[in-house]
Amino acid sequence: MSSSEGLFSPGLISSTVAASFPDSYMIRPLERGDYAKGFLECLKVLSAVGDVTEEQFGERYDWMSQHGKGVHYHVVIEHEAQIVGTGALIVERKFIHNLGTIGHIEEIAIRKDQQGKMLGLKLIQTLGSIAVNVGCYKTTLGTSEANEPFYVKCGYQRDGGTMSQYY
Ligand code: ACO
Repeated sequence: MSSSEGLFSPGLISSTVAASFPDSYMIRPLERGDYAKGFLECLKVLSAVGDVTEEQFGERYDWMSQHGKGVHYHVVIEHEAQIVGTGALIVERKFIHNLGTIGHIEEIAIRKDQQGKMLGLKLIQTLGSIAVNVGCYKTTLGTSEANEPFYVKCGYQRDGGTMSQYY
């Protein structure tokens, strides 16, 4: 586990899941220095990222770190000083379901040349372990049909539909 300060306590990640990653791969909370290690490059396998400068990345990181505490849990997989995988758990505290806490799994990306090595599955297990440790009773996610078999392998099942409106 990295000694630098990250977005949240690394102790929230199950040590069993962290130890299941191959030797040269480390799972840990996102750090401010990860821009230089290709964090945004890694996310490009998922969607358009835009021209985000290091300063803009730092501002967003600082906002999450200061105002998003207890809500934003971004993790990265580091291999040979590069970010090769990332994902996020966003924690929602509700009034319904006895003040239930739900985790939303977001921004899952494994760098193209690292796909097919079970890193995605371990990444989802990592986020699941954080969800349990912060008190979520479930996690949900939205996916394309093409990725559905991956999430089924990770233990997810279809649970109604979702709708979106863009602004
Ligand atoms: N279709 C069918 N099965 C799949 C798929 C797929 N698209 N992807 C993985 N699997 C299977 C694997 O074959 C493996 O099964 P096995 O145990 O029987 O061999 C199992 O799922 C685990 O696969 P991993 O090796 O852990 O998957 P990988 O590390 O390649 O990560 C991921 C999968 C995250 C979908 C990766 O391909 C990726 O980053 N894709 C591009 C970005 C993306 O689509 N992200 C998800 C967006 S949804 C969201 O963010 C909530």
